[in-house]
Amino acid sequence: MISAEYISRSPITDKKYFIPENFDDKKNIERFLLQHPGKKVVVVQGLGFVGSVMSLVVANALTEEYAVIGVDLPKPPSYWKICSINEGIFPVLASDPKISLYYENARKKNNLYATFDPEAYARADVIIIDINLDVKKTNSETGELKDFDVDLTPFRKAVETIGEYCRPDALILVETTVPPGTTQKIVKPIIEEYLQKRGLPVDQIKIGHSYERVMPGPKYIDSIQNFYRVYSGVNEKSADAVEAFLRTIIKTDEYPLTRLGNTQATEMAKVLENSYRAMNIAFMVEWSRFAEEAGVDIYEVVNAIRMRPTHKNIMLPGLGVGGYCLTKDPLLASWARKNLFGSSEPLWQSEKGVRINDQMPYFAFRYLQSQYQHPLQGKKLILLGVSYLNDVGDTRYTPVELFYDQLRLHGCAISLHDPHVKYWEEKDLWIQQNLEQLLNEEYDIICITTGHKEYRNNPDFIQQLLNRNSCFIYDTIGVFTNEEIKLLQQKHTVKVLGRGDL
Ligand SMILES: NC(=O)c1ccc[n+]([C@@H]2O[C@H](COP(=O)([O-])OP(=O)(O)OC[C@H]3O[C@@H](n4cnc5c(N)ncnc54)[C@H](O)[C@@H]3O)[C@@H](O)[C@H]2O)c1
Repeated sequence: MISAEYISRSPITDKKYFIPENFDDKKNIERFLLQHPGKKVVVVQGLGFVGSVMSLVVANALTEEYAVIGVDLPKPPSYWKICSINEGIFPVLASDPKISLYYENARKKNNLYATFDPEAYARADVIIIDINLDVKKTNSETGELKDFDVDLTPFRKAVETIGEYCRPDALILVETTVPPGTTQKIVKPIIEEYLQKRGLPVDQIKIGHSYERVMPGPKYIDSIQNFYRVYSGVNEKSADAVEAFLRTIIKTDEYPLTRLGNTQATEMAKVLENSYRAMNIAFMVEWSRFAEEAGVDIYEVVNAIRMRPTHKNIMLPGLGVGGYCLTKDPLLASWARKNLFGSSEPLWQSEKGVRINDQMPYFAFRYLQSQYQHPLQGKKLILLGVSYLNDVGDTRYTPVELFYDQLRLHGCAISLHDPHVKYWEEKDLWIQQNLEQLLNEEYDIICITTGHKEYRNNPDFIQQLLNRNSCFIYDTIGVFTNEEIKLLQQKHTVKVLGRGDL
């Protein structure tokens, strides 16, 4: 029997891949590049939610024909992505039809290849870093943030690998969300050290930073190709090279680029952007609690306020904040302030925002307990949606997880539905996708936990709910309109988080 550390399983097809012991893929890289003589080679490090789609955008560049190589690690969580790309199944499920269009086009042109062999970096004109950089959080059972730390070791290792192989005149573009200061204080010295070790000059290398604003979902590709970008370089030459490259893949005539003075500034822009959003949500959590106590419908209030152009982006409450970015980026910034710039002060408000947001699913659970008014032990529940965001199949740090854990802890029998998630990796659970079939079962409680379009503005769904025996419906996202709530209330008890007494 082959041990689990040699097996990588695709959560999309459930196919198992055996990780080779020999990581030499040079012949295939050579064969691939021979088909693209004269083309510039772009290597994307990291084939996750950002890197895989960025590879597609580069393979379908607007004004240049590139040969694109995606590199990921030959490890169980990632090896399948490499195989999947080369076998014709794109490793990200998303509702954006452009994804399959761009992927098919890249397959036709045969200009996208995926590998685990770092030899790819040696062939690159441009290397884009799209790997993860994690914040290690310690949370209590009820979601309270106890402690956090940033371990830069894996990120450093990834940059060292580039340094071991890259050409001395390559452009290295950091897109990973990093603690401000990282490109200048960590990436540049590592690359220069490795070039020197290899006896190569250090004055031709170009290093820049330009963060992703990619939004997985229906506008996945457009959020890269048709969107504003901020960029910088460690020097003028580097910033110029980043700009020239971005112009070939982004519609910059419609979405002009913004150059900032140095890489610290662009790195800060990214984490500030996300911290602003996380804080906005944390702020609304307090007001949602107040609204519930005061019997006020917070949705009505927020929609009224949003009529003011200056207040258009005030957030609405929900089950919680999930995903890879908003849950960690304020902490990355706070960590950088202390650890890379020597301040004795963290970013208090930003940290507090994360603390509040982390506990939102626990509040949502307590609200259910208080409204349901029966013991939850032994009750049959269905959670509609496990991903953290509408119409997206990403379960990383989904607030549904803590909500689910609390329900399990209280002895509920839980069914799960999500049209975009086949396998919930963090929970090692397969998710059912036939909503109609699932809704034929009996449940004591039906919870809407993600605002997918299957549950929002969908008369068929409302009709299905109306056809059921009476039960308790708990909308944690606010997907139902007032009319829908009134309809459903004729048959069921309906509670919406943040709407006070209905
Ligand atoms: N997901 C988003 O919506 C989003 C949006 C904007 C920015 N970002 C930022 O983009 C970065 C990437 O995010 P993601 O969502 O794609 O993460 P991800 O975890 O989905 O993907 C990262 C990939 O990098 C690979 N990787 C790690 N180390 C590597 C190495 N040394 N060599 C090659 N591959 C390596 C991992 O195996 C993984 O497949 C993060 O900094 C994130 O904060 C993400």
